[in-house]
Amino acid sequence: MTPDLMEAGAERLQKALDVVNTGLTESGGRSAGYGRVHTPGEVDTTHGRILYLEDVHVSFDGFKAINGLSLDIAPGELRCIIGPNGAGKTTMMDIITGKTRPDKGQVFFGSTIDLLRYREAEIAALGIGRKFQKPTVFEQLSVFENLELALATDKRVRHSMVFTLTGEEKDRLGEVLQTIHLTDSAARLAGNLSHGQKQWLEIGMLLMQDPKLLLLDEPVAGMTDEETERTAQLFLSLKGKHSLMVVEHDMSFIRTISEKVTVLCDGSVLAEGTLDEVQADERVIEVYLGR
Ligand SMILES: Nc1ncnc2c1ncn2[C@@H]1O[C@H](COP(=O)(O)OP(=O)(O)OP(=O)(O)O)[C@@H](O)[C@H]1O
Ligand SMILES: [Mg+2]
Repeated sequence: MTPDLMEAGAERLQKALDVVNTGLTESGGRSAGYGRVHTPGEVDTTHGRILYLEDVHVSFDGFKAINGLSLDIAPGELRCIIGPNGAGKTTMMDIITGKTRPDKGQVFFGSTIDLLRYREAEIAALGIGRKFQKPTVFEQLSVFENLELALATDKRVRHSMVFTLTGEEKDRLGEVLQTIHLTDSAARLAGNLSHGQKQWLEIGMLLMQDPKLLLLDEPVAGMTDEETERTAQLFLSLKGKHSLMVVEHDMSFIRTISEKVTVLCDGSVLAEGTLDEVQADERVIEVYLGR
C-alpha cells in the first residue's frame, strides 16, 4: 500500500473514532499510535532497566516542579511512587509520556530509546501506556467493543477499517476480559459500569496494546474497599509481564502491592526502599507521613 493510501485510511479511521469519541472527556492517549515507530519487543533492557531518568529538571514560570529527578525501573517491576501533593508525581508521568518537555536531563526507555526525541503519540506506540485518574472509556459502546477498539491503532485495521479480529486477538481479548474481571459484563454498555469497573476497563484497553510499561496515576481514587482490593490483585497479576509505575496516596493499597517504594518530594527523590524502610525515614515522616 502506498503512503498516500495509508494516510487516507488513517484519516478515515480517525473520523470514525471521532464519532465514537464524542463522550470522551480526556484525550488520554486514546488516539495515539498511528505512527507506530517501533515494535514494543525492541526495547533493550539488557542493562536491567526499562525506564531511566537522570537529573531531570522542569520549571513552570520559574517554579521548579521537577528538580534533579533521577530514577530507574527494572523490567517487570511494580514500582510505587508516593509523596505529598505537588511533589511532581504527575509531572514526572507527563515527562515520560512526552506531554511535558524537561528543561534538562535524560529520559530513556530501555538503554537505547531516548524518549525526549519522541512525541506523545509515538511514545504510546513505543509501548508506554498511561492511565489517567479519570476513566476515559467509550460510554456508549459495550465493554467488548471498547477492548476491540483499543486495537484500532493496529496497522491492519488502519488499512481496512474493518474490525475483524484474528483468532489470536480474540484470545487476547478473552484473556484481558478475565484479567480485568469483566468477562460476565462483556456485552454491557461501558456507561453502565461502576466507577471501579470503568477503571479496570480502561486498564484493559491499555493491556490490549500489550504495553511494556504502564503508568498509573492514582488508580484507586474513588474506589470502594472491595474494588481497591481487586485492583491490588490485578496489579500483582500484571507484575512481571509488564513493568508498572503506580502513583497512589492510599497507603493500605501501597502496602498490598509494593516491593520498592520511591518517595518524591519537591521534584526529586527523597527516599527509596521498602514501604517499612521509607515509613521509618525521619525525612519522609516529616514531609508526608507524619500528619
Ligand atoms: N502545567 C503546569 N503549569 C504550572 N504549574 C504546574 C503545571 N503542572 C504542574 N504544576 C505544578 O507543579 C507542581 C507539581 O505538580 P504535580 O501535579 O506533578 O504534583 P503531584 O505530585 O502529582 O501532586 P498530587 O499528589 O496532588 O497529584 C505543583 O506545584 C503544580 O501546581
Ligand atoms: Mg498528581
